[in-house]
Amino acid sequence: MAQSSDQIKAAITAVGGYVPEDRLTNQDLEKMVDTNDEWIKSRTGIEARRILKDSTKATSYLAIKACENLLKKTQLDPKTIDLVIVATITPDLHVSATAPYVATQIGATNAFAFDVQAACSGFLYALSIAAGKIESGRYKKILVIGADKMSSIVDYTDRSTCIIFGDGGGVALMEPSTNNFGWEDEYFRSSGEGRNYLNMKAGGSLCPTTSQTLANRWHYLYQDGKSVFKYAVSEMAHAGSEIMKRNGLKNQDIKYLVPHQANKRIIEATAKRMNLEQDKVLMNIKDYGNTTAATIPLLFNDFEADLKKGDKLVLAAFGGGFTWGAALITWAYN
Ligand code: UT7
Repeated sequence: MAQSSDQIKAAITAVGGYVPEDRLTNQDLEKMVDTNDEWIKSRTGIEARRILKDSTKATSYLAIKACENLLKKTQLDPKTIDLVIVATITPDLHVSATAPYVATQIGATNAFAFDVQAACSGFLYALSIAAGKIESGRYKKILVIGADKMSSIVDYTDRSTCIIFGDGGGVALMEPSTNNFGWEDEYFRSSGEGRNYLNMKAGGSLCPTTSQTLANRWHYLYQDGKSVFKYAVSEMAHAGSEIMKRNGLKNQDIKYLVPHQANKRIIEATAKRMNLEQDKVLMNIKDYGNTTAATIPLLFNDFEADLKKGDKLVLAAFGGGFTWGAALITWAYN
């Protein structure tokens, strides 16, 4: 809900990002599965993805590199960080969260740390958690990270999924606002029906690993793309429109829509339904593909120079679970 002015407001005060060097292009994929550059570009808007090829490195590496980028830019002492949240569906290990490892590696030795699993909405959900902690007055500096090594769960023989996903990590620092700009409102929802359409079937408590699950390739990401597409457009547009409506905002009041990067057509359809012109939509899907929890912080990082103090931004995401939602923020720094 919108806040009264005497409350502490949470604001993003710095961002960072990291994508691996190695590029997996549409031309590379043409050699791996029955697909072609034209199909991929016209159906998804993707031309390349970044892949963390080093098999000894995991999602924590992407998160750490993104944090190092932020720490270098801000000269922030990591010992002053209170909390580190990592949003991911590709944790380094299924038991032992990735966030404590990241916190230790970056020197955030006074922080507590945990992971959030909400797939492509993970970063937005984690931002909301962080905003609440800042608003409580108990915490002053929180790192919210979205990072996924999607190449670790993508089946590179399945043309319907391997063309979409890439690896990356992004981070935002949340602090109490000093200028009354920051986290304004949020609208989040979820639906358990979604797990039929987007999942990894085995390896969890429902279907532990056996030789049969391996033979069935159930340890890779599965998605019914068409269904996910329809839900994604209608729910992201609905959440984004709701948040504009209840804050009395018209399209001319919004500087940018900052949408999860799942598919260029999903993003464009969402903006159209929200009556937002396409030049108000931030996009980098062409170069990175869908990096799951990392898409929104990577947008912040790539477009940081274009974001100005006071700009009203609608953040929107949709992902596995299903999970989805939108948030309204006023950008707090130049
Ligand atoms: O981040 C949140 C989670 N994910 C998403 O939001 C992704 C949501 N879904 C999508 O982005 C799209 O549904 C896809 C990109 C996955 C697929 O695009 P589509 O326009 O929905 O294609 P489709 O699945 O309806 O397939 C159309 C045709 C099919 O052939 P037929 O049956 O019409 O002969 C597919 O077999 O395209 C074929 N096809 C391909 N052709 C060339 C599917 N994948 C490929 C491919 N290359 N990679």
